Amino acid sequence: MLANGCGRRFNPGIEVIIQPNPEAAAALVARVVARELQGNPHLVLGLATGKTMECVYRHLVGLHQEQHLDFSLCSTFNLDEYVGLLPADPNSYRHYMEHHLFRRVNIDPRNTHLPNGMAEDLTAECKRYEALIHRFGGIDLQLLGIGKAGHIGFNEPLSALRSRTRVKALTPTTIKQNAPFFGGEDKVPRRAITMGVGTIIEARRCLLLATGEAKAGVVAQAVEGPITSMVSASTLQLHPHCSVVVDEAAAAQLREKDYYRWIFENEPEWEGYR
Ligand code: F6R
Repeated sequence: MLANGCGRRFNPGIEVIIQPNPEAAAALVARVVARELQGNPHLVLGLATGKTMECVYRHLVGLHQEQHLDFSLCSTFNLDEYVGLLPADPNSYRHYMEHHLFRRVNIDPRNTHLPNGMAEDLTAECKRYEALIHRFGGIDLQLLGIGKAGHIGFNEPLSALRSRTRVKALTPTTIKQNAPFFGGEDKVPRRAITMGVGTIIEARRCLLLATGEAKAGVVAQAVEGPITSMVSASTLQLHPHCSVVVDEAAAAQLREKDYYRWIFENEPEWEGYR
């Protein structure tokens, strides 16, 4: 097996891991995070929110409670935050993170970072967030979900592949997707601060989780389709180390499923996860 300077397979690009159901897929993602954290207690962890990630955080909390997974030295940076919501707002991503993870593990609150969607000067806030990530030495492992329009973070269609943290207007598809959390489309904020596509793919490793049949089409576009700013997740094809974990339903439209299964069953990297 070829190895690069980091002692891993030479530039594998995207690897797709297919798990039988959403629970198994989320458990695997949590185990990857746990292993990275055990290998580097000072891990800089990029975090995502959304329905899909709730199960990952439940597993991480379980690993903390049952196996003493230690978060005390790690730092986190979330992908995004709505513009105009206070941290205490039940729909803010700060609130989501406190509820699903931060309050339930031994992370130092001072080491948890989200963009401030209430900042008076949003442009300055975006610059501050980028500089902060840089000051922490960049992101080691970035967790990602994928929106129905193919976004990662809130990088909606036509987000420049080299974009940095900035304010983005949400598409009608995203507004519709997130409306159930707000009790109606009219209540969803129209803008969010999001890490850019360029910011995200600078992370040393990316780990995307997608489950459910509603994501099958967009997963196939992102993984096997052309790299295009119309599907910002397709940019991950340029990343040297990106794992895409899906359940059978989200894998349904992938053409090379057998090949992906073979890789997972045979590559030494995945030995401890089978
Ligand atoms: C949220 C985020 C989004 C979500 C995506 C999937 O921080 O970055 O890209 O990951 O919209 O959301 P769910 O899991 O709710 O389908």
